Parts: sequence; C-alpha cells; structure tokens
Amino acid sequence: MDYSPTPEYGGAMKGFHWLVVAMLVVQYALGWTMPEIRRGTQPEGLVNLHLSFGVAIGAVMLLRLVWRVATPQPAPDRHLPAWQRRAAAAVHGLLYLLVLALVLTGWIGASGRGWTVTLFGAVDLPALVAQGSSVGHTLGELHEGLVTVLLLVVGLHVVAALAHVVLGRDDVLRRMLPHWGRKA
Ligand code: HEM
Ligand code: HEM
Repeated sequence: MDYSPTPEYGGAMKGFHWLVVAMLVVQYALGWTMPEIRRGTQPEGLVNLHLSFGVAIGAVMLLRLVWRVATPQPAPDRHLPAWQRRAAAAVHGLLYLLVLALVLTGWIGASGRGWTVTLFGAVDLPALVAQGSSVGHTLGELHEGLVTVLLLVVGLHVVAALAHVVLGRDDVLRRMLPHWGRKA
C-alpha cells in the first residue's frame, strides 16, 4: 500500500476554483432576481450587472483554462478506480464547457435583443449577432435551458465530492481546499 500523501491542486487553481464558485452564486442570484425580460426591456440595473458579471466570469474561466493547460496539474488520486477518474475528468470538462457556453449564449442572446454588452460600463463589447436575428433568439432560449443543466452537473460534482468525504473518507475534497499541505 502506498501511503505517500495525495498531491493537491496549487494555490492558483484553488483560487480560480473557489472564485468561480462565488461568482456563479452571485450570477445565479442576479439572473433570478433581475426583472423579467420582455420585448423592449432595456439592459439597466440588475440586468446590466448580470451581463457585465457574466462576461467577467467568462474572462476568469479563460484565464483558468490557460493556467490549467500551461502549468503542471496534480495527477488524479491514484487510489481511485479507473471509472471514477474517467468520470471526474468528463464532469470537469463538461463544467468548463457549460460555463463558457452560458457566457456565449447569454452574450449572443443579448446582442440579438440589440443590447450593448459592456464590462461594467467601462468597455463596450462587440455585438456577436445582428439585432433581431433568429440565431440570437434561439441561443438566448438555450441560455435559459443551460442554466438548469449547469445546476444539475454542479449538483453531481458536489454530491461526488461529498461522497468521497462521507463514504470514501479519502483526500479528494482536501485536494481543492486551502491550507492542506500546511498541517503540523
Ligand atoms: C456563467 C455565466 C452565466 C450564468 C450562470 C447565467 C445565469 C442566468 C440565469 C439564472 C438567468 C435567468 C433565467 C431564468 O429566469 O430562466 C439568466 C438570464 C439571462 N442571462 Fe445569463 N447567465 C450567465 C451569463 C450571461 C452573459 C455573459 C450574458 C450576456 C452578456 C447573459 C445574458 C442573459 C440574458 C439576456 C438573460 C435573460 C434571458 C431572457 O429572458 O431572454 N447571461 N442568466
Ligand atoms: C461547493 C461546491 C463545490 C465543491 C465542494 C467542489 C469540489 C471540488 C473538488 C474536491 C475538486 C478536486 C477533484 C479532484 O480531485 O480532481 C474539484 C475540481 C473541480 N471543480 Fe469543483 N467543487 C464545487 C463547485 C464547483 C463549481 C460550481 C464548478 C463550476 C465551474 C466546479 C468546477 C470544477 C472543475 C472544473 C474542477 C477540476 C479542476 C479544475 O480544472 O479547476 N466546481 N471541485
């Protein structure tokens, strides 16, 4: 039996992970509390904040992806069966894809409504499709569907992480928690 400690994620990856979790909590709260969008609604107040914050999440996710690819990452916990390692890798890939798809479909949907997406009012971002385009309308609706899909996949990811604590009693959750290598 190999008792050497399981390698954990580095500080930057942990920082990105928990920053994105916090940003998604805020983004869901904004999405659900902003006024209902109808024909002619203007992107003001909470709606505007939802657009800017969504783009900020996209930027952080892209930086995180670059960091993940450009720096060495810890190997999967070698005590796990191969099917769990494959499932974890698939779910992690899906999480990146879904968050980025939400950002793109939201942006495209907003462009289709003729809204200018800004980064907190500081920079105007380009429209991705023409106002009134059917692609904008369809992808705007897809955005609402993906909202639920991301919640389900995150739910699966969190249940799996907690199952490792409760059932597996292994180090999987600790790989992503702060201060793990600093124990006495
Ligand atoms: C990870 C990023 C994002 C998440 C988690 C998210 C989440 C949400 C949620 C929860 C809603 C409410 C849906 C409902 O009530 O059924 C919503 C609606 C909306 N979001 Fe996002 N959003 C994200 C990014 C963006 C971005 C980047 C934009 C635009 C730049 C955007 C534009 C919109 C628009 C226009 C709506 C209203 C949809 C409609 O009723 O037509 N979102 N989003
Ligand atoms: C309370 C909520 C969450 C918990 C407890 C949690 C826990 C974990 C743990 C323990 C790992 C390391 C797994 C391993 O050993 O490889 C991990 C990795 C990961 N988590 Fe979460 N997570 C949570 C929320 C989220 C959310 C909302 C996302 C959405 C983007 C996410 C995306 C990822 C990704 C992509 C990885 C792979 C490492 C990376 O590329 O950053 N997690 N998470």
